[in-house]
Amino acid sequence: MNIGLIGSGGREHALCKKILESNLVNKIFCFPGNGGTSKIAQNIDIDILNFKKLLRLIKYYKIDLVIVGPEEPLVKGLVDFLNKNKIKTFGPNKFASRLEGSKAFMKRLCKTNKIPTANFKICKKKNEVLNFLKTTNLPIVVKADGLAAGKGVTICKTKNQVLKISNEIFKGKFKSSNKIVLEEFLSGDEASYFVIVDKTSFKFFGTAQDHKRVRERDKGPNTGGMGAYSPAPIINKIVEKKIINKIILPTLNALKKNNNPYRGFLYVGLMIKNNEPSLIEYNVRMGDPECQVILPRLKTDLIKIMINATNDNLKRVNINWSKKKSMTIVLCSKGYPGNYSKNKRIKNLDKIMIKKKDYIFHAGTKLLNEKLFSNGGRVLNVTSTGNNFLKIRKRIISLIKKINWKNGFFRKDIGWKVIDK
Ligand code: AMP
Ligand code: GLY
Repeated sequence: MNIGLIGSGGREHALCKKILESNLVNKIFCFPGNGGTSKIAQNIDIDILNFKKLLRLIKYYKIDLVIVGPEEPLVKGLVDFLNKNKIKTFGPNKFASRLEGSKAFMKRLCKTNKIPTANFKICKKKNEVLNFLKTTNLPIVVKADGLAAGKGVTICKTKNQVLKISNEIFKGKFKSSNKIVLEEFLSGDEASYFVIVDKTSFKFFGTAQDHKRVRERDKGPNTGGMGAYSPAPIINKIVEKKIINKIILPTLNALKKNNNPYRGFLYVGLMIKNNEPSLIEYNVRMGDPECQVILPRLKTDLIKIMINATNDNLKRVNINWSKKKSMTIVLCSKGYPGNYSKNKRIKNLDKIMIKKKDYIFHAGTKLLNEKLFSNGGRVLNVTSTGNNFLKIRKRIISLIKKINWKNGFFRKDIGWKVIDK
């Protein structure tokens, strides 16, 4: 089979490497891919939101299955468009993708189906914000309704800040959002639970904990993710049962009732306190960098799983996981998540000897005349596996030191919650 993989991040390089292990696969085309995928697949430079051009290329290269990595094409309806043109595609349709594409949609669905989540109010004007402020204690979380590339959420400690941020969003700060969701603040431990879903069933697809803040001990502004580990021990059997029965099943049933059954990966972002999970967010895709720690633990052929999911035959597949633990640390461009330079040469990567247990996934990189350059804020994901998180972290840091990229920085405390106790 020929596979088309949409996206250009560390998640897509990890997917690409895993897909390559499948003996069902002939060739992989990455739209547009990155410096890492260009060595193991064929990169095709394209704007992934230009659906018509994508379709032409998918037909030209005789692609049998398209896998969509990032949220934006999903939320904008790529799966519906390709399916209408008879192209087999893995991922949720436009309606189901609103779980991530509209926070108001997600919160209303929770309310109707009694799914545990923070109390909230959807607001379109200032008066509604003032009313919520009267009834809810600070801090209050202000969220832009639509996609905002990870910048749409602010935890506000004062009423003035709530009003200021809300006003900015009403005035059009994010093109995708003319309304906001105000939420009560939840305390606890954050973790993510993943499932792969088809029309009739779903299967466990790993747990992980991400580190969103840029600085050590979870300080500083939010980023796309500075590192992650899997599994997340906070998700024990008791919590897992509640996640499935109180959150996942009611959500999937609600979408089915609407004649828009979910298909694809579903990322369940949770706050957990005293063994009680609350839904913080849904993402309609794998996480990045969570994918980079979950896939190295997967033992079953990923393409076999995905084909069965797109054909609603997921029930027939057994998905097996390694008992090994896994961690990734993101090597970022200095200045990220603020301003940073691109096009900085990364010299040492080819000289680094990695073992079977290690993986270097590229994110913001590009290859020019066989030379590697940075091309984004999150540049490389150095991943390793083993039996002990502290040892894995030491191994990763020793690899990053060997890469010795002067334009980069990384967090040295990934996994502190499971290591420092
Ligand atoms: P989201 O884009 O919804 O994932 O929000 C980004 C981050 O903001 C989450 O990963 C949480 O750390 C934090 N967050 C969002 N909603 C809440 C909430 N209701 N209470 C506490 N923290 C939250
Ligand atoms: N790592 C967070 C996300 O993928 O949304």
